[in-house]
Amino acid sequence: MTATSPIAIFDSGVGGLTVARAVNRVLPDEEIIYLGDTARVPYGTKSPATVERFASECVEFLLHFRPKFVLVACNTASATALEALEEIVDVPLEGVLAPGARAAVEASAGRRIGVIGTRATVASGAYERALTSLAADVDVVSRACPLFVPLVEEGRTSGPVVTAIAQEYLAPLLEHGVEALILGCTHYPVLKPVLAEVAGVGVTLVDSAETTARAAHEALAARGELRPPGDTPPPRFFVTDVIDEFERVGRIIWPELPGQIERVEIGRASLR
Ligand code: DGL
Repeated sequence: MTATSPIAIFDSGVGGLTVARAVNRVLPDEEIIYLGDTARVPYGTKSPATVERFASECVEFLLHFRPKFVLVACNTASATALEALEEIVDVPLEGVLAPGARAAVEASAGRRIGVIGTRATVASGAYERALTSLAADVDVVSRACPLFVPLVEEGRTSGPVVTAIAQEYLAPLLEHGVEALILGCTHYPVLKPVLAEVAGVGVTLVDSAETTARAAHEALAARGELRPPGDTPPPRFFVTDVIDEFERVGRIIWPELPGQIERVEIGRASLR
């Protein structure tokens, strides 16, 4: 692996493009290889064992590109499978949880933090553990928001229906007086305008896509592995199901979606 090796990013599907886009903005000289496991999305409704198996297969595919760094863009996979992946892969690996947790602690003087995510992410308690390890006195309220992913996938990112659903989901967190709200799912940054309006000015929204991209920059800079400017190949996107649907939703998330999209089959996990 060298500084010119790519950064590999994977997600259960298209939502991780929020992270890939942020990486592309923060690290424009880096080559990005992205895998969306669109044949098996959503991960957020599945058991930890199943997510771990799927995530292992995603990483196994990405290792063929000899990346210098693997980003687990999916919050559900980061919450349930990161430790297992770290044990079986010898490439530096970063999930979206730790950078988001750090940003939330910094943004909440009174340590009252809200977390929203998929059912699997919330059930895992992983954000609570990450936050508590940073500040023992954090007061965390979490809520699964399962309707947000299908809304984004359908391009419904604003309007009265989305606002009403956001109001209902966020009500208990706002009543608790959260000062920072972690958008603990790849799709939620797309709903940022609505969530910001519903949450109000007193609540800092923590976009894990942005925080993860900055953490990737720091990690690569610290290792002296930033790719020098010039001759960066365009990003490559791989999906495990139809390309058209990925492109349709992908352009909601990343309107100028650069590079090529290819369909692949990823095999059974053979990393253990
Ligand atoms: N990528 C998932 C996450 O960030 C959301 C979609 C899914 O459930 O797979 O948790």
